[in-house]
Amino acid sequence: MRKVASVNEIWTEKYRPKKLDDVVGQKHVSERLKAYVASRNMPHLMFSGPAGTGKTTCSLALAREMFGGEWKGNFIELNASDERGIDVVRGKIKEFARTAPLGGAEFKIIFMDEADALTSDAQAALRRTMEKYSGICRFILSCNYSSKIIDPIQSRCAVFRFKPLTSEDIGGYLRKIADAEKVDIDEEALKGLVIISRGDMRRAVNSLQVAASLGKKIDLDTVYQTAGIASPKAISGILDAALKGDFIKSRDLLDSTMIDFGLSGQDIIRQMHSAYFDLSLTDSEKVRLIDKTGEIEFRIVEGSNEKIQLEALLAYLVMIGGSKR
Ligand SMILES: Nc1ncnc2c1ncn2[C@@H]1O[C@H](COP(=O)(O)OP(=O)(O)OP(=O)(O)O)[C@@H](O)[C@H]1O
Ligand SMILES: [Mg+2]
Repeated sequence: MRKVASVNEIWTEKYRPKKLDDVVGQKHVSERLKAYVASRNMPHLMFSGPAGTGKTTCSLALAREMFGGEWKGNFIELNASDERGIDVVRGKIKEFARTAPLGGAEFKIIFMDEADALTSDAQAALRRTMEKYSGICRFILSCNYSSKIIDPIQSRCAVFRFKPLTSEDIGGYLRKIADAEKVDIDEEALKGLVIISRGDMRRAVNSLQVAASLGKKIDLDTVYQTAGIASPKAISGILDAALKGDFIKSRDLLDSTMIDFGLSGQDIIRQMHSAYFDLSLTDSEKVRLIDKTGEIEFRIVEGSNEKIQLEALLAYLVMIGGSKR
């Protein structure tokens, strides 16, 4: 019987590249990994970089290419920040390392996610574990910040830095998925998804899937609504009204935008902040505005009434605008 794809299949898994050659961007990484495959050997590796840029994907593809059909028996994925602690991790590593690699391979691969979540004591324990099993296992440590990994571990690994994916890379990949899924998305909406994703392919693909789940035609409004982000147009509407001195209109727009897009005070202030650079203000006005925004954002984060704080920010914008009129 033909296997029917589940309607609820998660696209990030469905479209996760299986081969190193299919990984988008990160050529500086995949080319070196391919050289390891060719030599049938590798040192311990450390993959550092932002979320959703291919660290887990490259580890899986590397294992597939290194071990072929037997890869699953020679690869284990562990989460270093597992709440049960490094002891459980050590137990699992011991168990995994106890049996010989399959298919004539010389070693097995232990992929350890979120290595930077370990305390330095736990990292010291991990370092001893790495040494103990280095004859039969190679570690790939994945982290967002390599600076949080202790030096003795870093110096035992070849370090690979993953970069946020470029707009072209993300846009091209989303277009391929949209075509394969027969999703009708216009160029403007696709660009919106790219902006929202900020270099994170997981976020990009997930946002596309959520938008597509609402209907087969996706426009820019759908994209922003499903992503829980206000459209840049809505944000600039609020700012423009305040700078022109229309406080009431700007406050009404703020309220409706927060409701329409389901935003918190923190969400909207961050979006306003990133829109400041497009405002026609002098540098010194922008500096004052950013200083004020920092203060208000801090108060909101600390739990002060966000409506009062956001209105204070709008009032400040009215004052800055007033000095120009
Ligand atoms: N470079 C890439 N090329 C193609 N798809 C990618 C790439 N990076 C990420 N993806 C997509 O995003 C999903 C998540 O990627 P992955 O698990 O590799 O992220 P990660 O870098 O390990 O992130 P985290 O730091 O959150 O663990 C993948 O399933 C895949 O669909
Ligand atoms: Mg990962």
